[in-house]
Formats: sequence, structure tokens, C-alpha cells
Amino acid sequence: MTKLNTELSMYLSKDDINNRLEEMANQLSEKYCDECPVIIGILNGSFVFMADLIRKIDFECEIDFMKVNSYVGKETSGKVQLEKDININIENRRVIIVEDIIDSGLTMDYLHKHISAYNPKDITIVTLLSKNNSYTLNFNIDIVGFKITSEFVVGYGLDLDHRFRQLDSLYTLEPNILA
Ligand code: IMP
Ligand code: MG
Repeated sequence: MTKLNTELSMYLSKDDINNRLEEMANQLSEKYCDECPVIIGILNGSFVFMADLIRKIDFECEIDFMKVNSYVGKETSGKVQLEKDININIENRRVIIVEDIIDSGLTMDYLHKHISAYNPKDITIVTLLSKNNSYTLNFNIDIVGFKITSEFVVGYGLDLDHRFRQLDSLYTLEPNILA
């Protein structure tokens, strides 16, 4: 155990994550067989999840990224800022959005509106984690890796102020660094 990990409690191990990703990838592979969707990863948080997920699917795809930001520390600022848009033309294409975590739903609501405005054929939403917040969205979240309680989690791409993204499992923070 490294010094870094002593501040953290294991929440979902890399094996738990890997097993669930196999199932999620199979679900996607059944849905897309011989089509070529555009998979849009939402930076920064989804980069590890996205990299692992796309290497488990068995259909051809194109990859792009969007970058949005709404968090300051552990709290949402209530406003979503677009920092990088997609570059691929997705008009009349099938699109898969890959997100790390949905909490209040604010970010996904923004992403869905923004991507819908490009008139894709359809949109499938995949998120590794969904907090059991009662967010109300007027579209479905199609594939959820894990439903979790509302604790703040880090690792496997998720951060607290840019830290902990490189950890290969998901962790909750110990109270001493929650302050
Ligand atoms: P929402 O807009 O409230 O749904 O929050 C979604 C975004 O907030 C995600 O894309 C994450 O970047 C970030 N976020 C929410 N909860 C957590 C967490 O527990 N750990 C790390 N990032 C989080
Ligand atoms: Mg994010």
C-alpha cells in the first residue's frame, strides 16, 4: 500500500470494475453489431473507463471527446462550462456518450442538449457510476455500471481537485481529507 492510498478506503476493486465492464461492453456489442457509432468520452473523468470499455467492445466505432467542467472541490458550481467540443460530424450518426459519474444530473442534461442539437440518429448514454440522487432527466440513462450512495469517490479517472485519477480502483475519501 502506498502512502497515497492510506488516505483512502477501497470502494470498488479493479476486479469488480473489470467484471462489470465486460457485461456493459457485451450489452453495447449486442446493440451495435455492424454499425459504426461515434463514442464520445466526457473529459476528464471518463478517460480511464472509456479506454477500458472500448477495448472490450467488438464493433467498429469512431472516438471523440468533449470536455466540460462544473465542479469546484467536492461541490458542483451549478453551472456547466464547455471547454472542448467534439470534432466529428455526428449528424445522422449513432452516438454513445461515455461519462464517469452522474450526481445531480446537471452535466448530463447539458451534454444531452448539446449533442442533440447536432441531430444524431440516436444517443445511448453509458455511465460507470450513478449516485442515488433523485435526478430528473427527460431522457433515459441506458447503461449504468454501478449505482452508488452519495459519498464522494475518487480513482479510476475520477478526481478531487485533479488528484487520484491514476488509481486503478475506486475509493472513498477518509474524513481527514474530506474537510
Ligand atoms: P452532476 O453534474 O452533478 O451530475 O455531476 C457530474 C460530474 O461531477 C461528473 O462528470 C464528475 O466530473 C463530477 N463528480 C460528481 N460526483 C463525483 C464524485 O463522487 N467524484 C468525482 N467526481 C464527481
Ligand atoms: Mg466528469
